[in-house]
Amino acid sequence: MSSIVLFGPPGAGKGTQATAITNLTGLPQVSTGDMLRAALAAGTDLGLKAKAFMDAGQLVPDEVIIGLVKERVKEDDAVNGVLLDGFPRTIAQAEALANFEEIDMVISIEVPDEKIISRICGRYSCSGCGAVYHEIFNPTKVSETCDGCGSTDMKRRADDNENTVRSRLDAYHSQTSPLAKWYGKRGILFPVNGNQDISLVGAEILELINSR
Ligand code: AP5
Ligand code: MG
Ligand code: ZN
Repeated sequence: MSSIVLFGPPGAGKGTQATAITNLTGLPQVSTGDMLRAALAAGTDLGLKAKAFMDAGQLVPDEVIIGLVKERVKEDDAVNGVLLDGFPRTIAQAEALANFEEIDMVISIEVPDEKIISRICGRYSCSGCGAVYHEIFNPTKVSETCDGCGSTDMKRRADDNENTVRSRLDAYHSQTSPLAKWYGKRGILFPVNGNQDISLVGAEILELINSR
């Protein structure tokens, strides 16, 4: 089996939908955003290099990100492919990716801009297992306690504020959205309606994957 790309604007629901896709396909989730945040938390050179870009809502330079993913897909758990979340985000990244990984489908989660700010600004996640929640759209069953692992240590992302989200959206429209056409021309772009309940988005995606 080859790899799947989860594509969409910030807050589209890429991270939210990734777990179900991983459960269905066995492909490990490779989120470049999560990898950069882990590097930042660990205080590595990569993390320090990425920080200013992430804080400003700008894309980290292509050569940094491409190298990171190229190394990641060499790991043992990636032999049957990976589920890419947040990569590629520029044409240059997609061209580089095509040289080292076979992509079977690009699932594009479509959400209008006006829905993005409220999604991002209400997001929190579990420090224990990484599960993603939302104050209104997807709260934990017991306040501030993870449904999955029971941890009460919830965190918010440094870049989840209105100003930075606007910059992330600008970066998406100018640098990332042209990729939809790029993959469309190659016949592997599969749009899904991301502007509906989380469970309905998930059902559309799983149906799509099962039909391949
Ligand atoms: P990254 O971490 O990838 O952030 P992003 O693309 O901005 O996407 P998000 O993680 O914010 O959104 P998501 O689609 O995963 O949404 P989620 O499921 O959490 O990147 C961060 C930064 O790293 C970038 O700005 C850049 O600097 C750098 N970077 C990363 N990759 C890079 C690359 N390839 N090249 C260059 N730089 C790179 O959902 C959001 C919220 O909405 C949650 O609270 C969730 O509960 C809720 N929600 C989800 N689905 C629904 C629904 N259907 N209805 C209602 N609420 C929903
Ligand atoms: Mg994400
Ligand atoms: Zn948890």
